[in-house]
Amino acid sequence: MELEALTVRPGSHLAGILTVPGDKSISHRALMFGALAQGATRITHCLDAEDCRATQTVFSALGIRSEWNAKEVIVEGKGLHGLKAAAGPLDCGNSGTSMRLLMGILAGQSFSTTLTGDASLSRRPMGRVAKPLRAMGAVITGKEDGNFAPLTIQGGALRGMVHTLEVPSAQVKSAILLAGLYASGQTVVKESILTRDHTERMMVRFGAAVSVIGDISNGRTVAVQSGRELHAQSLDVPGDISSAAFWMVAAAITPGSRLTVKRVGLNPTRTGILDVLKSMGASLGVLVEDPDAPEPMGDVTVGYSPLHGTTISETMLPRLIDELPILMVAAAAAEGRTIIENAKELRVKETDRIQSMAQNLTAVGAKMMVEGDTIVLDGPTRFRPAKVSSFGDHRTAMAMAIAALSADGPIQIEDVACIRTSYPSFFSTLKTLVEKR
Ligand code: S3P
Repeated sequence: MELEALTVRPGSHLAGILTVPGDKSISHRALMFGALAQGATRITHCLDAEDCRATQTVFSALGIRSEWNAKEVIVEGKGLHGLKAAAGPLDCGNSGTSMRLLMGILAGQSFSTTLTGDASLSRRPMGRVAKPLRAMGAVITGKEDGNFAPLTIQGGALRGMVHTLEVPSAQVKSAILLAGLYASGQTVVKESILTRDHTERMMVRFGAAVSVIGDISNGRTVAVQSGRELHAQSLDVPGDISSAAFWMVAAAITPGSRLTVKRVGLNPTRTGILDVLKSMGASLGVLVEDPDAPEPMGDVTVGYSPLHGTTISETMLPRLIDELPILMVAAAAAEGRTIIENAKELRVKETDRIQSMAQNLTAVGAKMMVEGDTIVLDGPTRFRPAKVSSFGDHRTAMAMAIAALSADGPIQIEDVACIRTSYPSFFSTLKTLVEKR
């Protein structure tokens, strides 16, 4: 039976040690690089959720065999030039990462491919990827001049270029770098605001000729040179910090709570949530296993402590972009004012997350004001019972489920099947933590 709506009842504290499913961004990339490398890539703790399954299914239609069992995923890579034309259009489902990164890969093939997506993905802007890829010579057509799916990517010869990102988007950066594996000469991407660097790290790991200049505070320049074959790897995917974020905030705002999330990804381009929770006064401990690992991971412990408001500046946003819905819940619960500056990228996620969270948080009694794309939240709020909606967005749904834990009464969340895109076991973990109370 399909889980459509769910009522989450308030309770007492949350305590325990848990793990979360594999990181979504890293899982997608592991499946993609595995397909483009020579030999069998083994991936453990790969996120088994609809988004990553969409990537696997697309590659299987492009001729790449993979086996996904309870222990691992084995991808039988065929090298950079081993993909074959698909028999029909390829469905990326709800997954922006699948569609945008695939655009880069497909632009360099010797055949044409059509990519489709669900209603939400078909509303998300693809021109931000099509435009730079066209500058490399790619031929991309689609709705509204290729700004929206369905998109047809006519593969062909590409030329390297130097590109400065117009939007701080790891998906755009990654699409260009992946196209760079096929382009003549060197492809260089410059970013003034740092975005997640999983693609660059994975390129190093699989043996691509890639170099990164710059540091975390001043942005970076990434250069990739085509012509080097990729080689199969064994990868262990860290737990997704974007999924762990829900439990961190749950523990931080629910009196008497203390939770440890084990083996969670701690790549510095993703740990903005930890910095913000600390700045809000959260009781937080981090134990990094090996900071020099290809993708660092470790254990994060969060205990309840009264939070206070903070300011999240625009330059911090890419390091916590997917955590903003749950951070809005934390901000509503916190004493005083929180400002999230110019979060316009939230308008083009799986739904408009400024609108979805404003409507939901207002329904449960929070004071959330939106000025343009800047969000102002005044707390503390004692959440009250209400009926809210996910708006088809997994992170809106999970954020509201966490708000419900400390509410005055039950909160009903409509349309929760979307959670399967990134965190299918979310509600069973929630149930376990609640039952342990
Ligand atoms: C992702 C990058 C982010 C993020 C998305 C996953 C990635 O999107 O919101 O969930 O895997 O590269 P943008 O880079 O478009 O901001």
